[in-house]
Amino acid sequence: MGSEPVDRYGVMGWPVSHSRSPLIHRLFALQTRQRLSYERFEVRPDRLETAIREFAEAGGKGLNITVPHKIRVISLVDQLSERASAAGAVNTLAFQATGIFGDNTDGAGLMCDLTKNLGLGLRNAAVLILGAGGATRGILGPLLGAQPRSVTIANRTLHRARELAERFSSCGAVSACRFEDVDASRKYALLINATSAGLKGESPPFPSQAVSRDTVCYDLSYGSTPTPFSQWATRQGAKHSVAGWGMLVEQAAESFHLWRGVRPDTAPVLRQISITA
Ligand code: ATR
Repeated sequence: MGSEPVDRYGVMGWPVSHSRSPLIHRLFALQTRQRLSYERFEVRPDRLETAIREFAEAGGKGLNITVPHKIRVISLVDQLSERASAAGAVNTLAFQATGIFGDNTDGAGLMCDLTKNLGLGLRNAAVLILGAGGATRGILGPLLGAQPRSVTIANRTLHRARELAERFSSCGAVSACRFEDVDASRKYALLINATSAGLKGESPPFPSQAVSRDTVCYDLSYGSTPTPFSQWATRQGAKHSVAGWGMLVEQAAESFHLWRGVRPDTAPVLRQISITA
């Protein structure tokens, strides 16, 4: 029985060496008694299609897709979930008999962390998102689904924020502005950093007027030490300053559920991941 081949999964990105997904999925597999392997694949953008095809031909069952491939990979899937289609980005592939299925579990992961783990109510709340790239696209639909009073996208490059606001305008009250034009009179319950500035070691002039003692500041990035955004938020006197470990574990659980049909208990994994961070 021990010699039966295990089902293979993995994550493709560029770079990907920092990814904690292998550890998270191994912990899920142990907990739910699933036999599987999960590896990292460092894949340059020009090799993405070949790498996915080779993985599938070798019997691979599923992949997570991360930066910078989440948008590009859409053209390689046979069927898209509704949420991946709305986001215009894919972070999970399942290799099925009918072809490649593409899903996006990022938004569901964030919402689960915000509402279940952090107990944050978003109905009628004012939300501010910094950044207008792929990460923002992935979370906008689910955030608007929670019926906040408003969602503002602030971005260094205004036209990218405007494009996103227009794309999601039928889902709720969403608007766009530059960092310096963030409305200081609005009490933001939630401020999300969805820029990639921290990853590049950059600290942009984030809008300090957006933070009050009632604001939860959430960084979609995470690291073994507090992120530059988290440090900035704490300095501004935010109510809570949270890094994206919870979202990481919850989006992984959502992918795991898609692949294996079993939903792992995320709480012990989140504790273990934060300890080993
Ligand atoms: P993606 O692949 O997710 O689209 P991206 O194009 O690097 O990644 O965009 C990520 C976001 O981080 C963008 O909103 C980007 O702002 P611009 O649209 O103005 O480029 C933002 N970002 C990255 N570095 C930044 C910095 N130093 N200051 C402010 N915003 C930054």
